[in-house]
Amino acid sequence: MSEEKGQKRGEFIAICSAKGGVGRTLLTVNLAVALCKKNIRISVLDGDFQFGDVSLAMDLQSTFTIKDVIQELNRLDEYTLASYLSHHESGVKVLSAPEQPEYADLVTEEALEKIIPLMLTQNEYTIADTGVGLTDKSLSLLEKADQILLVTNLEMATLKNTKLMLETLDKLELRDKVRLVVNRATMESVIQAADVPDILGEEDPIYIPNDFQISSQSLNIGIPFVINQGKTELAKSIFKMAEQISSRREITMIKKKEPSFLTKMFNRKRVKEGTE
Ligand SMILES: Nc1ncnc2c1ncn2[C@@H]1O[C@H](COP(=O)(O)OP(=O)(O)O)[C@@H](O)[C@H]1O
Ligand SMILES: [Mg+2]
Repeated sequence: MSEEKGQKRGEFIAICSAKGGVGRTLLTVNLAVALCKKNIRISVLDGDFQFGDVSLAMDLQSTFTIKDVIQELNRLDEYTLASYLSHHESGVKVLSAPEQPEYADLVTEEALEKIIPLMLTQNEYTIADTGVGLTDKSLSLLEKADQILLVTNLEMATLKNTKLMLETLDKLELRDKVRLVVNRATMESVIQAADVPDILGEEDPIYIPNDFQISSQSLNIGIPFVINQGKTELAKSIFKMAEQISSRREITMIKKKEPSFLTKMFNRKRVKEGTE
């Protein structure tokens, strides 16, 4: 996404998968809370516009959804948008998905192009959960993302479809932004987690351990496990992922902040010559 000159904007992370039920929502809410615990401003966009369940996973009774935002689109600025977000006690703010699947059609490209940059001006990160696979809507979110977390597990069908999705993302020139996440990596399975990089041609995935009891309890009671199960291996893996993501941003910010000597000289010359 293009950056307005001189305006700081946050990073947009999209969490996607080729198959449903692999843990996108669980990872979205826990990553968001983990980043928030590091005093980073975070918002979540529930981009599973038909069957979004981020609010449920965080036990939020959302007064507004993206549908209400879209009705205000012409008058929307960052402050009005902020008033439509639900506030979780952790500090994470959520723009919920519409309450009925048929309203997903209201979420047009034009709406997303207006809403997402406004979310990014107010937050250091905006994390989008997405619908399954490569629909128009999820692709639109992936195109706008700075980073794509592609979630897989060790099941044959998921791996097959993840491979196809990677190939398509490659054709669309989006693969460079992808980081693979192998969820339930310690699950007993014919395919071992260590085989996944070779199978999918993705080096250095992020591995999240298997813990169905904590995962399902977390989703069912609506408390992200990084809040109340912080000492478990599952939570530790999310904190580690949050650390990797935020340190990567610090590095790119430092790089951006310090233009090279030549760039500085060139800009000075242009200013002098009145080209700016
Ligand atoms: N690391 C994990 N270990 C065990 N079970 C998991 C893990 N991650 C997700 N699950 C389980 O997988 C199911 C689907 O998770 P969910 O986040 O709703 O997936 P999605 O959003 O991709 O459809 C839930 O029952 C959840 O408890
Ligand atoms: Mg989900």
